[in-house]
Amino acid sequence: MKQLFSIVADDRFGELPRIVGLCSGRGYPLVGVTAVKRGDLMHIDILTECDDRQAERLCRLLASQVRVVEVAVRPAATLVEFDGPPAAGLVAESGSQRKNNNREDSRMRIYRDSDIGREPLETRTIAVIGYGSQGFAQANNLRDSGFDVVVGLRPDSPSWAKAENAGFTVLEPGDAAARAEVVVMLVPDERMPQVYADAVAPNLRPGGYLGFSHGFAIHFAKVVPPPETNVFMVAPKAPGHLERYEFTQGRGVPCLVAIHQDPSGDTRDVALAYAAGIGGGRAAILETSFREETETDLFGEQAVLCGGVSALVVAGYETLVEAGYAPEMAYFECLHELKLIVDLVYEGGLANMRYSVSNTAEYGDLTRGPRLVDDRVRERMRDVLDEIRSGAFADEWMAECEAGGARFTALEAAASEHSLEGVGRRLRSMMPWLEERRLVDRARN
Ligand SMILES: NC(=O)c1ccc[n+]([C@@H]2O[C@H](COP(=O)([O-])OP(=O)(O)OC[C@H]3O[C@@H](n4cnc5c(N)ncnc54)[C@H](OP(=O)(O)O)[C@@H]3O)[C@@H](O)[C@H]2O)c1
Repeated sequence: MKQLFSIVADDRFGELPRIVGLCSGRGYPLVGVTAVKRGDLMHIDILTECDDRQAERLCRLLASQVRVVEVAVRPAATLVEFDGPPAAGLVAESGSQRKNNNREDSRMRIYRDSDIGREPLETRTIAVIGYGSQGFAQANNLRDSGFDVVVGLRPDSPSWAKAENAGFTVLEPGDAAARAEVVVMLVPDERMPQVYADAVAPNLRPGGYLGFSHGFAIHFAKVVPPPETNVFMVAPKAPGHLERYEFTQGRGVPCLVAIHQDPSGDTRDVALAYAAGIGGGRAAILETSFREETETDLFGEQAVLCGGVSALVVAGYETLVEAGYAPEMAYFECLHELKLIVDLVYEGGLANMRYSVSNTAEYGDLTRGPRLVDDRVRERMRDVLDEIRSGAFADEWMAECEAGGARFTALEAAASEHSLEGVGRRLRSMMPWLEERRLVDRARN
């Protein structure tokens, strides 16, 4: 039965994809999405096909896991205004609201496999330049989806043998680019300008397609392709090894797509076919811009996922050790258990974690968490976001790389020598099953 969820939520970065992700990850079809911004709020309508019990459960999940002001569900038969999605994807805008709204994130198209054709890639060769985390995952997923893929690597690359052992034709980057109509840049962001200038630019075909999995190089103008080149982004929202694992299990990870320039007029179709080829259409493919993807991605990894979490873990560990507790205890409490908590959060949001932990833990979380991450931390988060948006972070990072990366290497070495890493190695060796079924096998991927 078609059911319509009407959700009113805070209009915050990332909230819409999170809400859509919750709805699309339930195993029943997501038929359409509309989203409009009103003041500080987003009004989102999501049309799904599910029974009453599933609808009630999803309602509860949304109410508990997203900062929703209101969530209601009703059978779609009672609707008069919902037009349903157009053939090419799902609408996320309302004409009457659009003129009041100048934010990029107030409208969003969402695609799934059924909205996407494979034809744009069927007769084209794809050159995947780089065979690291993303290159490995995308090259293998695309090939398993039936597309023609070659891999581009430098001749002395340690990745060369891995790609060849996986059965790919491996060529030097320039030769791979010359062989293909679609060239996808999956080398580290800081190396992209060099690889592009030396190997890719001289071999791009007129009217060819140039793809990225992160907007950094294009948004900060570190790579400036000629106007006759079609430029797109397909950014999987997962590390490559997990993306490959999910694909082999018949699932996929959500992807963002964006178009930077489209002289041929069909770049979106190529990008969508590519995103579906790596498995994104099994989950959800959300259309965004290079700017939005770049800024939110950098902010997420700096403030929360990598920078925020690492600094919090180290500070918690050091606080306990300095107070005289055993390092092993500090390791378990501040790092090891993080995985267990994250699994719960990943599965069903913060409310799922709070449902599972004790009342004591939940009370401590709700009363102490906001004291730690207070207005001063938010102020610094805004500073970090400002540095990203102004391009200051991008310039600092590129300058660091151009100068040889000495500061980066020193920071990395100091972090790896922290006592927490040694304690962790010792404790993990007592749990050999942690080594089983690893996503990362450095000899192979
Ligand atoms: N990691 C992720 O999960 C993730 C997620 C979303 C988006 N992205 C984006 O995906 C892109 C690729 O990142 P990644 O994390 O997959 O990189 P990575 O794991 O560091 O792999 C980079 C690959 O590029 C190769 N490479 C390095 N320098 C090269 C050169 N000069 N010429 C040719 N090949 C070269 C490396 O091979 P050798 O060094 O062995 O030669 C390696 O195979 C980036 O834009 C990143 O932001 C990554």
